[in-house]
Amino acid sequence: MLMSKTESYEKLKNHFNFLKGVHLRELFAEDADRFERFSIRWEQFLFDYSKNLITSESLDLLVGLAREANLSQKIEAQFKGEKINITENRAVLHTALRNRSDEPVYFEGVDVMPGIRKVLEQMQLFTNNIHSGKLRSYTDKTFTDVVNIGIGGSDLGPKMVCSALKKYAYGKINIHFVSNVDATDIEETLRKLNPETTLFVIASKTFTTWETLTNANTAKSWFLNSGASKADIAKHFVALSTNHKACNEFGIPNENMFEFWDWVGGRFSLWSAIGLPIALYIGFDNFEEMLNGVYKMDTHFRNTPFEQNIPVLMALLGVWYVNFWEFDSHAVIPYDQYLERFSEFLQQLDMESNGKRVSRDGVELDYATGPVIWGTIGTNSQHSFFQLMHQGTATIPADFIAFAQSLNPTAEHHNILMSNFFAQTEAMMMGKNADEVKLELSAANLSESEINKLLPHKLFPGNKPTNTLLIDKLTPETLGMLIAIYEHKVFVQGAIWDVNSYDQWGVELGKQLAKSIYPELDNKVKTESHDGSTNGLINHYNSIR
Ligand code: F6P
Repeated sequence: MLMSKTESYEKLKNHFNFLKGVHLRELFAEDADRFERFSIRWEQFLFDYSKNLITSESLDLLVGLAREANLSQKIEAQFKGEKINITENRAVLHTALRNRSDEPVYFEGVDVMPGIRKVLEQMQLFTNNIHSGKLRSYTDKTFTDVVNIGIGGSDLGPKMVCSALKKYAYGKINIHFVSNVDATDIEETLRKLNPETTLFVIASKTFTTWETLTNANTAKSWFLNSGASKADIAKHFVALSTNHKACNEFGIPNENMFEFWDWVGGRFSLWSAIGLPIALYIGFDNFEEMLNGVYKMDTHFRNTPFEQNIPVLMALLGVWYVNFWEFDSHAVIPYDQYLERFSEFLQQLDMESNGKRVSRDGVELDYATGPVIWGTIGTNSQHSFFQLMHQGTATIPADFIAFAQSLNPTAEHHNILMSNFFAQTEAMMMGKNADEVKLELSAANLSESEINKLLPHKLFPGNKPTNTLLIDKLTPETLGMLIAIYEHKVFVQGAIWDVNSYDQWGVELGKQLAKSIYPELDNKVKTESHDGSTNGLINHYNSIR
């Protein structure tokens, strides 16, 4: 059912009209228990959502919206392997990849768990053999470097996790990620490497992605040009894919292939064989710890009432802002250097999933869906775009993420970092009103006319909503939990907006056009088959290259 046809939608519109004039300062002043009421402690997480533009009634209505969207049934349909990705006729079973229980998970009547465990064992054996030096290079050396070649979901997840868990690295393997078809990416990576000690992991669900195959072929030529023979390819190249035939054609035999399945979506695939570079970098035990964390979050998501369910609440708050307050972007600000790639990962996860404009039945929606997701780490972000968040005309809801225990507890750094972390959500919420600004300026001995001139520039309206996720410590387990929160949030929002979060037809048009333009770039003949601008640009490029 379209969200706009639900009773809750109408009620929420009315409720918004009541709440839009209320300031968060007032809501805190009225309710001494607001923090306790609107925060959740779960495992190593404290989720504080009290600094949001909500009352208990808002939450009741939002939970009502989730019920009208049949969220419980939709969650079960996903976990049980129904083909909920209707436009690709696929199930969506990334949760089975981290099912750490003995329970079977059926897809078309067959338990998928034995196949999943088999690939995990293969990943474990391979990782241990690379680390121990049992698997050696074609010149009998131990491997020192792993290059993952992939793009989108076959790159962003593993790249973000390796960066986040650098502190847990095995230590003797350097990891590199090549994704862009711009040759600079692979050239700058290979320049530093020795072909005799480099292992290539070609990661592609389809094994047809143009960028990935181009980079993989360049890597193969580099390897062969170094003096290795074709037979040596099997020692230096492995594939992570669902496409055996294409891997074989590339020169990678089945025994060097780590398979996964049609029902694993690219942006949800880091828990599958696509996670092999993670295991190689941090060790298989740490990779399993991450799976354990995700499984705990999956269980929380599946079994906890909506009112206490972290991903569900985050999703509902997001819907509240997009559809009723009409805030069309959402920032994610981790106060942890190790999470510097987190927002980039979330962009694909969220925007490729919910950047949709028709319902599951193909009806054009009369309401907004996925917001623009963006952000970067604090405190750096404070010195770039926070000005706009505090005093600009847009309101940007934001998630603030931090860890109580630093992995690098040097001098006073962590408390300085955390002071900023707490200060920013307080500042966003409270702002600074005219009385406060006047008091401050008169204390600085400014005259009345000077104060009046400066006043509007110094005001902070506040009332900017934020979520805070304060986590004990960054570990493989808590990182797994954190990622799963966002995966489930995206799913819940898709369920409420009635879109298919698991297809990505929007990336196809550009791919098709690029394929048709490619032969024209070698052409001596003037291109006339496109619109005037595109013809002009191609012809100019051909004349100056
Ligand atoms: O860009 C679209 C997309 O299909 C993503 O969804 C996917 O993660 C990426 O391309 C890479 O695809 P593959 O793993 O098949 O190479």
